[in-house]
Amino acid sequence: MFAGQRIVVTGAASGIGAATAAAFTAAGAEVIGIDRNPAEDFSGEFIQADLSSPQGVADAAAQVSGTIHGLANIAGVPGTAPFELVLAVNVFGLRELTKALLPRIADGGFVTNLASSVAAGWAERRSQLFAFVSAADWDGALAGVHQDAEVTGNSYRFSKEAVRLLTELQASENLGRVRVNSVSPGPVETPILADFKKDHGVDKVEGAVTLLGRAASARDIANVIMFLASPQAGWVNGTDIRVDGGLAAHRGSAQLQPAG
Ligand SMILES: NC(=O)c1ccc[n+]([C@@H]2O[C@H](COP(=O)([O-])OP(=O)(O)OC[C@H]3O[C@@H](n4cnc5c(N)ncnc54)[C@H](O)[C@@H]3O)[C@@H](O)[C@H]2O)c1
Repeated sequence: MFAGQRIVVTGAASGIGAATAAAFTAAGAEVIGIDRNPAEDFSGEFIQADLSSPQGVADAAAQVSGTIHGLANIAGVPGTAPFELVLAVNVFGLRELTKALLPRIADGGFVTNLASSVAAGWAERRSQLFAFVSAADWDGALAGVHQDAEVTGNSYRFSKEAVRLLTELQASENLGRVRVNSVSPGPVETPILADFKKDHGVDKVEGAVTLLGRAASARDIANVIMFLASPQAGWVNGTDIRVDGGLAAHRGSAQLQPAG
């Protein structure tokens, strides 16, 4: 389905990024993987780059040659890392790499961003998020939230809320040319899950996995990223697909009380 297409996948050395790179390759695409860690047995082109600084993003973008057809922004760090790193990689690295590569994405191409089901309440913080993601100066934006315990204490959630807003902004800026969507997984069986247990609580994460019978596989998420890249999703733009096995629907339903 993707024969002849060149697709950039960040976070390609592990987990969802590795599964997505493998799935696109199997579907005929030429994948250009980017990750700070080396990727073993990577079947496409691989760029080792650190997306946590403006220079790292610029270096990565400079190594992507020619026209591309899509960008899957999957690299991410968990909330167990320092808040500056979480926000730098998950928000500004994603924003700047997208900005650098968008002019090279062919008409009709796609950008898909990895958000998270923990970002479901993002619209309540829309104004704060807009000020944050609009900051021209990356370091200044991080300094600006330094004193805000609500942000620094929930840096992962805040970062993925910012990704939800960035997705809408990027879609809106590229209407009719490049579709931009996000995917919001619940728990996925990848190396980052151990950090999520520390950050969100073991009981919460393991309780969800027990309820569902399993965590998602990386391939479960890659399948939806592939769908969003496909012609079948040609009218899907500026939106988010929750991929959590029904967890949020179940939790929401459980809170409802019968009238009476
Ligand atoms: N696993 C889950 O339960 C889950 C749930 C919701 C969302 N997500 C999101 O999915 C994405 C992929 O996570 P995963 O589960 O595959 O975890 P993972 O840890 O297996 O993969 C993350 C990848 O991002 C790369 N990365 C991190 N910082 C980087 C940097 N500065 N520069 C370049 N690459 C960097 C890592 O090296 C790693 O290969 C992340 O954005 C994560 O937040 C994961």
